[in-house]
Amino acid sequence: MEIHRYEKIWFAAALVLIIAFIGTVAYGAVGAGIQMIDDEGGTIDPDEWSEHEQFEEGLGVFESDENDIDYEVTMIAQHPSFNPRDVTIPENSTVEFHITALDVIHSYDLVGTNVNTMVIPGQIAQFTVDFDETGEYLAICTEYCGERHHEMEGTLEVVSEEEWEPDEMLDNGGDG
Ligand code: CUA
Repeated sequence: MEIHRYEKIWFAAALVLIIAFIGTVAYGAVGAGIQMIDDEGGTIDPDEWSEHEQFEEGLGVFESDENDIDYEVTMIAQHPSFNPRDVTIPENSTVEFHITALDVIHSYDLVGTNVNTMVIPGQIAQFTVDFDETGEYLAICTEYCGERHHEMEGTLEVVSEEEWEPDEMLDNGGDG
């Protein structure tokens, strides 16, 4: 069978495009360090959240007794605020977050980082982040959750180890 030269060129061009598309999808899936939140955090009854083992000690920053985790942050999302609103942790620490929602679907997005998770009533979003440098990040809710959705924000500040004071743990900032 005779294939016209132009047709061969178009075949080749189409093949290159397909490979390029697959390449961008594959890069987006594994190359950019993106991790999906899975069900590792477990489930929780929103009405009795404070009795859940993960939240028994309260909300805020806690030293972790797990080997590869330095601190744990427990947080609840409830329209229109995060509690605690502001979180302070020392640099060079590995932090495991446990966040759940009490009313509707929210999210916890740390602007400028790859932290961005949905926060769903009945489930605990659990993820681990390494904070190697000092800095302050804005935390926002990116799921429309009600008329004051736009007010739902907080901060995460990474301070130097000298500046870090353990009293910053249990900083139940409320919606201040
Ligand atoms: Cu919470 Cu929008």
